[in-house]
Amino acid sequence: MKVLITGGAGYIGSHCNRYFVSKGVETVVLDDLSDGHEEAVVVGRFVKGDFGDKDLLAQLMKEEKFDAVIHFAAFADVADSVARPSRYYNNNVTKMLTLMDAIVEHGIKYVVFSSSAATFGEPQYIPIDENHPQNPINPYGMTKLIGEKILQDYEKAYGIRYCAFRYFNAAGDSRDSLIGEAHNPEHHIIPLIIRAAQGKTKQLKIFGIDYPTRDGSCLRDYVHVDDLADAHYKGLLYIMKHNCSEDFNLGSDNGFTVLELVHKFEEVTGKKVPYEIAERRQGDPASLVASNKKAIELLKWELKNSDIMRILQDAWNWEQNKRY
Ligand code: UFG
Repeated sequence: MKVLITGGAGYIGSHCNRYFVSKGVETVVLDDLSDGHEEAVVVGRFVKGDFGDKDLLAQLMKEEKFDAVIHFAAFADVADSVARPSRYYNNNVTKMLTLMDAIVEHGIKYVVFSSSAATFGEPQYIPIDENHPQNPINPYGMTKLIGEKILQDYEKAYGIRYCAFRYFNAAGDSRDSLIGEAHNPEHHIIPLIIRAAQGKTKQLKIFGIDYPTRDGSCLRDYVHVDDLADAHYKGLLYIMKHNCSEDFNLGSDNGFTVLELVHKFEEVTGKKVPYEIAERRQGDPASLVASNKKAIELLKWELKNSDIMRILQDAWNWEQNKRY
């Protein structure tokens, strides 16, 4: 089997690329390196380019004859999407249409799509299952919801089959520290906890301590990137075998607050994390936890790496040995 992985030089995409190759799948990574890193593509063919470039897509699709496209490439900074929505609608929606049209034109039937917990908006109940209403509260979440709608309509009109995965908080890094999380600027909590512990920043800012959670800080569901990669592989095989389309929420069915995360990190590493309590960050729901029942039942998804201690240990190892 051969797959095109857009955004395969990014955080989740690069782990997925490595995982697919370990399962014997041939991969071609297409990434313009706007957020990704060429060093993160440790296996498979790498092509530097834009997933919205029609001519490049035609050339690649003719040349490689892909069985499926795994579409990660997107802008994913929630706050930036509020400030600069045009970037997000152009990149995540307009370019996705170009990609989808190329997929249809070249007879590729299967698509795996990176969606997000951000499509749900403010949760009405927890854990959030696949039937939860989707009412995004920021442009990023809206672009991912539109992506899901595009897939639904292309399925009806052109017969493509897709699997949409709504990630909760992707975390952790490869066990051998060969690849890992590297955003610039970094706004995710675990790398920021580590930077504060390393003295690279003065202290961690905890955004809000007055939320209706166990200790007042926000609660999130952290899921290991290698487990996300496993879901992508199993999801693709599932839609191929059953000739169907499905959406899945991917999380651990368990949440940790920011303060709990800080204390767990201190326990794992023996390092102190200096922190201060800051104002709430705009648009942060108090709690986000996924129901992962559907993925476990249908895909036989296994969460082998999502224990929080393991996630924090991997992140600590990676941050100390970062290659890029
Ligand atoms: N946080 C802090 N201090 C920081 C950074 C984050 O207290 O310096 C808190 C946030 O307020 C939040 C939690 O840590 O409560 C996690 O924040 P992240 O920025 O790491 O992750 P988010 O939950 O905001 O975002 C994730 C994904 C997004 C996705 C979103 C869905 O990264 O892509 O979940 O709501 F859109």
